[in-house]
Amino acid sequence: MTATPLAPHENLQGRHFLDLGEFQQAELRALVRLARELKSEGAASASALLRGRTLALLFEKPSLRTRVSFEVAVSSLGGQALFATGSEMLVGTRETPEDAARVLSRYVDAVVVRTHEHEPLERFAAAAGVPVINGLSALYHPCQAFADVLTMEERFGSLEGLRVVYLGDARNNVATSLAQAVVMLGGSMRFASPLSHRPSEATLERLAKLGASSGGRVRAFTDPVRALRGADVVYTDVWTSMGEEHLHERNAAMLLPYAVTERSFTYTAPHAVFMHCLPAHRGQEVAAAVIDGTRSLVFDQAENRLHAQRALLVALITDGKGTSL
Ligand code: CP
Repeated sequence: MTATPLAPHENLQGRHFLDLGEFQQAELRALVRLARELKSEGAASASALLRGRTLALLFEKPSLRTRVSFEVAVSSLGGQALFATGSEMLVGTRETPEDAARVLSRYVDAVVVRTHEHEPLERFAAAAGVPVINGLSALYHPCQAFADVLTMEERFGSLEGLRVVYLGDARNNVATSLAQAVVMLGGSMRFASPLSHRPSEATLERLAKLGASSGGRVRAFTDPVRALRGADVVYTDVWTSMGEEHLHERNAAMLLPYAVTERSFTYTAPHAVFMHCLPAHRGQEVAAAVIDGTRSLVFDQAENRLHAQRALLVALITDGKGTSL
């Protein structure tokens, strides 16, 4: 294959992937470049990059996209995946996250963890001797944001100056990781939510700092129309995150004005697209006419989970020796 080599400062071998905010802009750009190259080259030329390597997936929560795309990614690169959930994993319950991490580091080459809380994941990673990937935690969903950057670059060429609006629960993990990626790459991130679902001032300050070197900007609005004006990308997610089902009725009432409908696109740029990480609820956070319409990129996003994660595994697990990486 003809992938562009990672420059020395972009070498990510052995790193954890828990929070995009811990990465440099050049590192994120390198990952996206690698994902584009692996996608355009197809699977055959990369089919031995992870030969003999094993990826463990430890999931406390349900998943379709994250689980299957990682399993397909590792097998397409010549490695194998092991999946554990429910009573088989129980990191932090049956044993400490540190003990589980030390044990698994002797069996496998990398671990993807999907947790309810973020803190056990941090503890697990701190004790692990192999790369640990956040497959979604209470705070972040960096794998989703990485795939979303790939999708936006494919459509718009670059995120520089791109106006991305997130409507709904703007405090959630998907919104936070998306915003990190957008501001790191020079885009303009706008949240539209009621005050109750607005990111904290600390989060907004961190995002502003993260975008300082690239010209990325962040603003939070309560008026969805003001946020939507001139937008290139309109993004939403479910109104109630996994584990917060008891809040669903309250959230549905509060977030109804932030639902994405065909009317939302009367305020955006004419070429604006719709994005959603899925799973989606038609008639709640998004109208069926939008998610199933011509503006929707949701299945490109879902496909790009696979390409992004192939790049992530190659970059974190291998040194590229014996390949053109
Ligand atoms: N978007 C996403 O993470 O999907 P899953 O919950 O199905 O993995």
